Amino acid sequence: MESNDCEMPGRSVPHPPDSLFESCSWFYALCREYLFRDHTQEIAHALFPAGGPAEGTRVLELGCGPGFYACRLSQEYPHIHTTGVDLSRRLIERAKSRAASRSLANCTFSHGDAHALSDPSNSIDAVVVSRLFLIVANREAVLSEIFRVLKPAGRCFIAEPTSGFRTRIPLSCMWLLSKLSSSPAGKYREPRQADVMTSTDFGVLIRSQPWGSFDFRYDSWYQYAICEKSPAALVAPELQERPADWSTV
Ligand SMILES: C[S@@+](CC[C@H](N)C(=O)[O-])C[C@H]1O[C@@H](n2cnc3c(N)ncnc32)[C@H](O)[C@@H]1O
Repeated sequence: MESNDCEMPGRSVPHPPDSLFESCSWFYALCREYLFRDHTQEIAHALFPAGGPAEGTRVLELGCGPGFYACRLSQEYPHIHTTGVDLSRRLIERAKSRAASRSLANCTFSHGDAHALSDPSNSIDAVVVSRLFLIVANREAVLSEIFRVLKPAGRCFIAEPTSGFRTRIPLSCMWLLSKLSSSPAGKYREPRQADVMTSTDFGVLIRSQPWGSFDFRYDSWYQYAICEKSPAALVAPELQERPADWSTV
């Protein structure tokens, strides 16, 4: 086992230990499976309000981790295609294994950065984002990319935790695991404490893009935004290759 690696004994491969999610992918996958809430039904209702997705609907899960939602949606709707994108190559491998173990042919995963997506503008029907904004470097840039890739009338579902304390627990465990495996402190890019957004910050973030409509929902654990790009909105060609600089609406 590599000294900078908290991967399970016997399953380690060399990798640059720059992300806790990369180093502790097995731990995060366990949390996702058994600890965090499953929002699949809320996502389906929010993204496909008119009785289910049309044939060939393209869904993107950003910061997909182990591919939980991409696989759930692909399983539920065999006639759509889901793609999961994540910065962690190990979590992408886990997501691929998850899809393969369920024989999902309509589900693919690729390594990528949510700040600069490879998808063309106006090409995606629906985007799922769960627990991503609390750790990305530039939230506005990520939301701008989501807006750019969505088709006119495309929708996104965003779920962000509201409790700093509860969100801190898995992150702290990952830091601890990385220490136990003799990883020097401060080596990973993730913050020590999750940067949970207040409802005000969340509102400001969502309004940073010119959505046709949006709706906020809250419960005791999460805040949600369901946003729809205007049916008439097409991203201008000069803005298609870089994050758009939209002013608040
Ligand atoms: C807290 S986890 C959430 C995973 C999953 N969406 C869920 O609901 O459990 C955050 C994920 O975002 C990924 N991530 C962090 N920064 C990213 C970026 N800039 N682009 C894509 N993925 C990123 C991490 O590797 C990690 O898998």
